[in-house]
Amino acid sequence: MTGTVHHAPERAELLAAAREAATHAWTPYSHFRVGAAVAIEAAEGQRIVSGANVENASYGLTLCAERAALAAACQLGAEGAPPKVTAVAVVGLDARPGECMPCGACRQWLAELAPEADYYVEGVEETLHLDDLLPRRFTLDR
Ligand code: THU
Repeated sequence: MTGTVHHAPERAELLAAAREAATHAWTPYSHFRVGAAVAIEAAEGQRIVSGANVENASYGLTLCAERAALAAACQLGAEGAPPKVTAVAVVGLDARPGECMPCGACRQWLAELAPEADYYVEGVEETLHLDDLLPRRFTLDR
């Protein structure tokens, strides 16, 4: 899901978009609905792109909300360029406050596609950054 906004979205707005996205999660196995929303600077202005987790009967194929949102955001980047992600919000509708931190696999995706972003996790008061989530991370600089 995407929408155009005319300003850089703030924490509350981005968390609200993530919360709405989570209502579209497909979670027949875990019943743990997650939504993620990313703010990007697109050619036509600021946009919010969101995604939700999509589970699969072959459990390991499950797609997390963060990666769903990042994959959608890539469609709005310039050809051959990553999206310019300025902020990421994550909400777990069925989570305890602060429980819905991005998983390890999503952190590696975030490292690649949202390295400069502000991170808002529902139930975590402070704004996080990539160094909080994935210090000493793997990169492939070539
Ligand atoms: N999940 C996410 O969507 N994002 C995360 O970062 C953590 C886990 C989903 C995957 C699965 O559908 C459910 O939460 C329970 O693990």
